[in-house]
Amino acid sequence: MRKLCYIPVVAIWIAIFSVVGGVDRNNFKTCDQSSFCRRYRAMKKGESPYQLLLNTLKEGESDLQVSLINIKNVVHFNLKLTALENFDFRLEIDEAQPIKQRYRVDYALKGEPATRKLVVTERTSESITVTNGHNKAVLHASPFKIDLYNGKTLMMSLNAQGLLKFEHYRQKTEKPAVPEGEEAVEPPAPVDEAEADIGAWEENYKSHHDAKPHGPSAVGLDFSFPNADYAYGIPEHADSLALKATTATDPYRLYNLDVFEYELNNGMALYGSIPFLIAHGVEATAGVLWLNAAETWVDIEGGAHKGSNVVSSIVNFVSGSGTPPPPLEARFVSESGMIDAFLFLGPNPETVSKNYAEISGVTPLPPLFSLGYHQCRWNYNDEDDVKSVDAGFDQHDIPYDVIWLDIEYTEGKKYFTWDKIKFPHADDMMKNLSLKGHHMVVIIDPHIKREGGYYVHEDATSNGLYVKNKDGNDYEGWCWPGSSSYLDFFNPVVRDYYASKYSLDNFWGTTLDTHIWNDMNEPSVFNGPEVTMPKDCVHYGGWEHRDVHNLYGLTHIMSTFDGLLKRSQGKLRPFILTRSVFIGSQRYAAVWTGDNMAEWEHLQASIPMCLSISLAGMPFCGADIGGFFKNPDSELFYRWYQIGAFLPFMRAHSHIDTKRREPWAYDPETTSLVRSAVRRRYEYLPLWYTLFRHHEVDGLPIMRPIWYNYPKDKSAFTIEDEFMLGKELLVHPVTKSGLTEVSVYFPGEKDLWYDIDELELFSGHGTKTVQTPKEKIPVYQRGGTIIPKKMRIRRSSALAKDDPYTLQIALNADGLASGSLYLDDGETYEYQKGQYVSLVYHYDGTTMVSQLVDKEASFASKSWLERIIVMGVRKAPGRIVLKSQSVGEQEIEFAFNPNKHLLVIRKPAVPIAEEWKLFFH
Ligand code: NOJ
Repeated sequence: MRKLCYIPVVAIWIAIFSVVGGVDRNNFKTCDQSSFCRRYRAMKKGESPYQLLLNTLKEGESDLQVSLINIKNVVHFNLKLTALENFDFRLEIDEAQPIKQRYRVDYALKGEPATRKLVVTERTSESITVTNGHNKAVLHASPFKIDLYNGKTLMMSLNAQGLLKFEHYRQKTEKPAVPEGEEAVEPPAPVDEAEADIGAWEENYKSHHDAKPHGPSAVGLDFSFPNADYAYGIPEHADSLALKATTATDPYRLYNLDVFEYELNNGMALYGSIPFLIAHGVEATAGVLWLNAAETWVDIEGGAHKGSNVVSSIVNFVSGSGTPPPPLEARFVSESGMIDAFLFLGPNPETVSKNYAEISGVTPLPPLFSLGYHQCRWNYNDEDDVKSVDAGFDQHDIPYDVIWLDIEYTEGKKYFTWDKIKFPHADDMMKNLSLKGHHMVVIIDPHIKREGGYYVHEDATSNGLYVKNKDGNDYEGWCWPGSSSYLDFFNPVVRDYYASKYSLDNFWGTTLDTHIWNDMNEPSVFNGPEVTMPKDCVHYGGWEHRDVHNLYGLTHIMSTFDGLLKRSQGKLRPFILTRSVFIGSQRYAAVWTGDNMAEWEHLQASIPMCLSISLAGMPFCGADIGGFFKNPDSELFYRWYQIGAFLPFMRAHSHIDTKRREPWAYDPETTSLVRSAVRRRYEYLPLWYTLFRHHEVDGLPIMRPIWYNYPKDKSAFTIEDEFMLGKELLVHPVTKSGLTEVSVYFPGEKDLWYDIDELELFSGHGTKTVQTPKEKIPVYQRGGTIIPKKMRIRRSSALAKDDPYTLQIALNADGLASGSLYLDDGETYEYQKGQYVSLVYHYDGTTMVSQLVDKEASFASKSWLERIIVMGVRKAPGRIVLKSQSVGEQEIEFAFNPNKHLLVIRKPAVPIAEEWKLFFH
């Protein structure tokens, strides 16, 4: 009987998406079907009609302003160039005399960016040169172009291709009515090509009509990077890590969409949009943040993307017989908004990430439990189901931290309610989970069921909390509950209202151990154009959905974050998972790659997808383990756990129509392989936590492409089947069926790489074959690093809280290593008041020291140091003596394996939070 309740949902879903077994491309626009994209692509290079009027220059403390004119239609613009604190620049271009204000992106940035003094160093009749510390910008008047230098290196040029486009708002020139019997008079000729486009003033797509009351309003600009080979970032796409040239395809599209059964290897839009691009080459790394929340397309061309053409043009150029290879270019075009671009001048990946993080923020240290393993399914059906899955973990001796409930837990898809038949004692269920240190995550989507008597709907209707349609009425769309309306999170009153729904008083059944999954927040509208909200809907402040579309999900999670924070009076760190992302989403939530499939290609795609998201500033990324759609066979299943254990967010999830697949659902061998992978995750949890803390402090990605750590290594630029975690671990998971070996690339001319299973040196620089029996996850520790681990097996991270630590040391070629450990209570904000321990370790063969980084900070940890493993030791020491305040001076036992060059120091037994020194005699 109960089962019947969800059958209609699935039936509706399948009917709406109409295709099973692949994306229905007909549901989504191509560039040609999107009028502004079509117009931008029709532009010819080198015909820029824009000129700077240098005599209008106004110098401010940290910026300059100058007029820019389109000489074709004589429309004036204001250009503002600001010197940012970290020596980068911000460029803003807006209309000088707009008939309507343009949308300036709100919420995405961390705050108002800090600035420095901008100095005009040179003015000629053709250009203005300004400096910001060691960086410089040269603004050329005609043709308009901006060159940006780091020191003497030209890092990027703007409008070098002449593809700047700024469609000013205009009055519609109506076709005059023709009196009966008279000849039709032709309306005045269009002011420019924007006007002439058939989609300029209204657009149809399938059965949907976009009223476009404000007419054409697109903005676009080209960026050239003379020193870069490849561009990376601008997620979310199910495509390669190094972006492909789009000369023969559509541009990459950034428009948050719910794409059913998304396809791999193309630049179609997906759930998230982060318009941040990194251009990288051996000599330089630069970045662009295109701060625009409207639908955006990005063309990529030049650099090394052209494959053999480029190689031959480089060869010709070097031999003196050809022209230089074309520079890497990225061209952004957005449907509305203004031109607002942050220009990061590097010169290396770390400075770009760091400075971008200064602007857009970082992921605050997550609660420790959220770094553990998450068990999800659409759906765990009722309390007994939850209980038996929980018991299954105990029975099979597999740790887990979180069990999830998908939409079926609600009463008729009414969020903040429970199906009281399936979950009559939700509060007790939560409390029982908490007893073993487990947590629960429940889903809360942004659409609201339009049902009389549902209090959220009643409140929203009577207080005007919904997004409006173009006629000013509450917009109605179709989603899981059927007829739904969408809360307008752009309205602060709505955010406060929604946040208050998370309070324990308002959300029966939840406890402080219940956290939140915000899904469908693109927003997904099953019967909307491209499965989302019509662009002519209207938000708070009068902004069209067109202007703010990509921001919707961010405003949703902002409200949830606030609600969870307030629920604990600001004491506990919230955990939120979001599907839709934009610039700044990292400050509130983790993200996953959405509805993937139980196919090897999807397993492979999870690496470049999460790498791109990480490069765009969102470190907490994962993919549904096992694949959401379809049923994985045992091999795909355990290999997916093996990669999942080394992605920042580790969650298994599956579609309602799939077979049950808890870790023990297959044969005992598969269970055992899954168990080992999950245990691996827990073993390295102290490293994960430390890496997340580093990210919070320095803004660098946690999961990194190989080239990020080895920026000069050209051969690493397109690697996407392996990655690094911080600078410590190199991971090359098995992502193909039936592989008995994989080829691993070990970067770093002088670097040594240690196998974390064998605890011995595996390789120096170069490509090596690694045997991959079923249990093998090829993971290597870089020589020169020290990694903290915990080796005891527990049921959850909370139960391992006081467990002792192991330090795993991998020596570099000089016999040295260093590393760090960060720990705190794992759940509160007390660490921000100094309740933490941050240690650095240095090993040099004669001594090893543990030093507190911040002596003012402290945290009363009961953990102690159980073991030190040193890999790569040439000769056994005679004696090892430990000196610390609590232990005094004492000799320590150790064992040395001369074949493996492995030294194991047993039971130093010092409190982990203490400083100490080891002497090797
Ligand atoms: C779509 C999400 O991507 C998926 O993970 C979830 O299970 C379904 N919505 C149902 O809530």
